[in-house]
Amino acid sequence: MKFFIDTANLDQIREAHDLGILDGVTTNPSLMAKEGVKGKDAIMRHYLTICEMVDGPVSAEVFSTTFNEIVAEGEELASIHENIVVKVPMIKDGIKAIKWFTDNNIKTNCTLVFSAGQAILAAKAGATFVSPFLGRIDDSNWDGMQLIEDIVEIYNAQGYLTEVLAASIRTPLHIVKCAAAGADVCTSPLSSILGLLKHPLTDLGLQQFLKDAATMK
Ligand code: E4P
Repeated sequence: MKFFIDTANLDQIREAHDLGILDGVTTNPSLMAKEGVKGKDAIMRHYLTICEMVDGPVSAEVFSTTFNEIVAEGEELASIHENIVVKVPMIKDGIKAIKWFTDNNIKTNCTLVFSAGQAILAAKAGATFVSPFLGRIDDSNWDGMQLIEDIVEIYNAQGYLTEVLAASIRTPLHIVKCAAAGADVCTSPLSSILGLLKHPLTDLGLQQFLKDAATMK
C-alpha cells in the first residue's frame, strides 16, 4: 500500500518525506486555505513547490463544478508538473470531465466518494484514483471501513484499474485496516502516520536496552 500525506503544509510534507516512506500528496481546497494560500499564482506556486519536494502523485483539486470549467482548470493544473493529479468531485459533470481527462492522458482523483455506486462510476470513467472518505463516514455513524472493503472487492471482481485511495483517515488503526482491506493507497494526516510508530513496549524495551548498553561503555 502506498503512503500519501493529506496536507498542504510544507513542513509536514517535508517531515513525512524525510522518513523515506512517502509516495505522494493529496490536498483539497480546505487544506490549501488552511495554509493561507491565496490567488491563482500563489496556488500554482504552492503545488509546484510540493511537486519539487515529493517524487510522486500530487492531487490538486479543481474549484469548478461545470464540465467546461473543470476541463479548463484541470488542464492548467496538469501543466504545472507531470506529477499533478487533477482531483475532481463526484458529480455528474465531474464524471464527464474525468472521462475527458482519461481520453487526454491526464491523471485524475475522483474525490468525495461515499458509496460503492459512486466508486463504480469513477472507475468506468477511467479515474486514476478513487477517494472514499472513510473518516467522514465513521463520523456520521456508518461503517467507513466496510466501504473500503466493498470497493476493493468490486474493483478486483471487475478488473478495474482505478486505484483505491482511502481518504479522510483519522487514526493509525485506519491505516492498518486499509492495508488489510487491500487499499492501493492510504492518504493520512502526519499524526496518523507517526502514530504507527508508537507502542509502549517499544519505549520500555528501548529504555532497558539503553540502560544495559550504558553499563558496557
Ligand atoms: C481526500 O483526499 C481529502 O483531502 C481528505 O482525506 C478529507 O479528509 P477529512 O475528512 O479529514 O477532511
